[in-house]
Amino acid sequence: MPALINPSILSADFANLERDLRAIASADYAHVDVMDNHFVPNLTLGLPVFERLAQVSPVPLDAHLMIDDPDRWAPAYAEAGAASVTFHAEAATAPVRLARELRRLGARAGLALRPATPVEPFLDLLGEIDMILVMTVEPGFGGQSFIDGTLPKIRRARQAVGESGLDVWIQVDGGVSRDTIDRAADAGANVFVAGSAVYGAQDVPAEIAALRDLATR
Ligand code: DX5
Ligand code: ZN
Repeated sequence: MPALINPSILSADFANLERDLRAIASADYAHVDVMDNHFVPNLTLGLPVFERLAQVSPVPLDAHLMIDDPDRWAPAYAEAGAASVTFHAEAATAPVRLARELRRLGARAGLALRPATPVEPFLDLLGEIDMILVMTVEPGFGGQSFIDGTLPKIRRARQAVGESGLDVWIQVDGGVSRDTIDRAADAGANVFVAGSAVYGAQDVPAEIAALRDLATR
């Protein structure tokens, strides 16, 4: 399975988002972290900014909604041009209805789990989603360290996806770097979000290539 590298623009320069999107043109998707200061204790950007990012980005956008009431807000990100919209299982009231709506609007539907949220209750819903996001840090901030205790959940998700025969992607987000990406890949992740590792690198395209290489071997 090819490894997809989705740099998180949370670690970009917010005064130069278009420039910093161009810097990751060799990536697979640009990961856009939307935080509302309720679901997580941090505030980033919302729909008006997202709409403009979708217009100027050289790569498709992977929206990660760390917000309350995604049932109400997530479809607008699909309408704004997100290729993928991921909402949190802990915040959604009707995840199946929401995933169906996102797919109807032409986006891939992702279901995100905080580190302490088990994957088992959601395995029956694999046919309704395109991606599981296993958070490998507590959502809210970049630059945190990878939680190894999430590896069994990645393995469990990969096993269930394998048994289902469905093409559901498994994304990891948080603390992903040259030091940790192989562990996540070995556990079964195939989509890798990296913020500080990519934007903190001297040579951003080289870092994307290095991460892809480490995740593929
Ligand atoms: C954290 C965000 C991540 C963040 C990852 O809540 O969801 O996407 O940007 O940053 P790093 O790669 O620095 O851990
Ligand atoms: Zn994220």
